[in-house]
Amino acid sequence: MLSIGWLVLLVNYTKGQHVNSINPGAAWPDVNGVHIQAHGGGVIKIGKVYYWYGEQRALGLDKSQRYVSCYSSNDLMHWKFSGNALQLSDPENLGPGWVLERPKVYYNSKTQKYVMYFHLDNSSYKLARVGIAVSEDPAGPFTYAKNFRPLDHESRDIGQFIDDDGTAYLVFEDRPFGFRIARLSDDYMSLDKEMCLIKAHMEGGAIVHFNGLYYAIGSALTGWKANPNKYATAKSLEGPWSDFKDIAPPEKNTYGAQSTMMLKIVGTKQTTVIYMGDIWKPNTQWASTYLWMPIEIGEGKLWLPEPKPWTLDLKSGKYEYITK
Ligand code: GAL
Repeated sequence: MLSIGWLVLLVNYTKGQHVNSINPGAAWPDVNGVHIQAHGGGVIKIGKVYYWYGEQRALGLDKSQRYVSCYSSNDLMHWKFSGNALQLSDPENLGPGWVLERPKVYYNSKTQKYVMYFHLDNSSYKLARVGIAVSEDPAGPFTYAKNFRPLDHESRDIGQFIDDDGTAYLVFEDRPFGFRIARLSDDYMSLDKEMCLIKAHMEGGAIVHFNGLYYAIGSALTGWKANPNKYATAKSLEGPWSDFKDIAPPEKNTYGAQSTMMLKIVGTKQTTVIYMGDIWKPNTQWASTYLWMPIEIGEGKLWLPEPKPWTLDLKSGKYEYITK
């Protein structure tokens, strides 16, 4: 049975049309009508262009390789597939079922290189390392450089945070201890300073800096199964961090999504923060969808409203729900 989302995708595809909105949870056709493959991903802005990187999980790929896709957009609604930015064979003899997840790309203006971080693991998730690949072009090809445990800590899910002053950070889940935030070195090829350890067992970590306060969100450790994502706040990345609170009614399990990033859009009239999450379909990963929604944020509170279609005006920063 085709779900409504896939039906909409099919209809749009046949009509050769594109959707002028963001439809949380529905199939998201790129400008060629093909469902976007950028799972566990992240978005960066270079000049006027947004790039969305993520796990490429399309059917029919070489199963021994792992792929990171790259899409570009001028409005965050219409995305053009620029190909797979990274295509990698098992770099460390990790064996079948090796894992490359949650890729995040940083642009280093000093070296003028794009540096991709990803979670590298074996099939039992025991390696717990980050891998790095580098490119001179945002769309790749990225060349594999190395892997390590950030500041010697275990690292599974990773998240990306770039502060308003341009400083780049990695958020990573260190299973025995919690959720760490560390600063990238000058050339982004390593981590040079641990900012803090939040002693909460959270993954899918993401941070946003909004009106003088840092907001961190994450999910509980339930694998592909959705759980109630939570947030904490702090005046400085070093903490102290508040306790974690729900971002949505807990019984909704974050509307089936798991956090991957928060994207801040500073417009002429409004600053909008977008919650970006994945709605995983573990048995049909290629059909996993995305939950992107503007959140209600400010004065220490963060709330993810019930998902509904919306549209964004990048210039003003304003968003609108679409009412039929
Ligand atoms: C989730 C994690 C995903 C993936 C999955 C595997 O907890 O966020 O990125 O690693 O587990 O079960």
